[in-house]
Amino acid sequence: MRISIWLIIMKPRELKPNIYSIGAVDWDRRLFDELIPLPDGTSYNAYLVKGSEKTALIDTVDPTMGDVLIKNLNQIDIKDIEYIIANHAEQDHSGSLSQIIDAYPNAKVVATPKCKAILMDLLLIHDNKFLTVDDGATLSLGDKTLEFIYAPWVHWPETMLTYLREDKILFSCDLFGSHMATSDLYVTDETTVYESAKRYYAEIMMPFRATLQKNLEKIKDLEIDTIAPSHGPLHKNPEFIINAYRHWVFDPPENIVVLPYVSMHGSTKAMVDYFVKALTEKGITVKQFNLSNSDIGKLSMALVDASTVVMGVPTTLAGAHPLAFYAAYLVKILRPKLKFISIIGSYSWGGKTVEQLVGLISSLNVEILDTVYCKGFPRIEDFESLYQLAENISKKHQEIGL
Ligand code: FEO
Repeated sequence: MRISIWLIIMKPRELKPNIYSIGAVDWDRRLFDELIPLPDGTSYNAYLVKGSEKTALIDTVDPTMGDVLIKNLNQIDIKDIEYIIANHAEQDHSGSLSQIIDAYPNAKVVATPKCKAILMDLLLIHDNKFLTVDDGATLSLGDKTLEFIYAPWVHWPETMLTYLREDKILFSCDLFGSHMATSDLYVTDETTVYESAKRYYAEIMMPFRATLQKNLEKIKDLEIDTIAPSHGPLHKNPEFIINAYRHWVFDPPENIVVLPYVSMHGSTKAMVDYFVKALTEKGITVKQFNLSNSDIGKLSMALVDASTVVMGVPTTLAGAHPLAFYAAYLVKILRPKLKFISIIGSYSWGGKTVEQLVGLISSLNVEILDTVYCKGFPRIEDFESLYQLAENISKKHQEIGL
């Protein structure tokens, strides 16, 4: 008998009777949005809930994996789907919607009005395919009830969560997810998943901390046995990931300086080395990143807990080195809970590096500390200024209780 490789590696998995995980694992993907590194691949989780009367598919998969989803549905012999719940319009979850609608033409796409509008724009799905739901609305599948919980800005404006009442499963969309390809259905190693989930939070969720606070408050009294996110393994211990999020979102920043730098000929590097030593002697944890070879995901993760960012930046072509400009822009758009920023570095004959970078980050609600910017290789007075800056940062951290 010929054994199908497909059956071995892609079998749908039953969470509970009549509830299946039927998405796709993408072991080889290394970049998301043509920007975000995926060192551990990812998964596009989709779930099927069979009620006594009706069947609902919760999210679809990336368009590159539509055939996987169709085959998984065939494997569990699904003849009809009445509802396709679209928790989120981004294409890694909605990109196979048209393929699924073609295969199950009676299905209605259940979404928030905002999600419907975005899906109509992105995928050109006709208006008559949709059923929009209000915040708190429910949908009966017979012996199972889906409840819809609006959760805007995790991490698009239209996002919602779906709660399966009878089984206490929260289908949490991108919230609580991790870009992680794994053969395990559930979290088995919390340390590994913590890192992956923190990377995911840092790169995608962190800019929306204010609305995340509201969303976490909104679900805090929900009885949850299992969290089934849209990426990565499922959580049988919901407290683990909820507490991690509460820490990242609510807790004050820590006694940490993040120091992204680039150095072309060694002057800025000499300043960075001295400055790191001065900060370390004052008991401050420093996380430095050479921008010429750093993983921006790791830099983003470091920003989650940092109180201060100091950029080490040489001047090139009369302005900030482009790698430093990129890092400063990243800090600006990720909006971490930073309190202080400074700039150190070196120039050869002139330029507007400091003004450029300060202008770029001016929208952040942070205090810009004195900068140390020297001509050529740093002299004794420049090292003294760096020492003063380290002292000032230590004092500022103490003033905010660190
Ligand atoms: Fe996983 Fe925002 O899509």
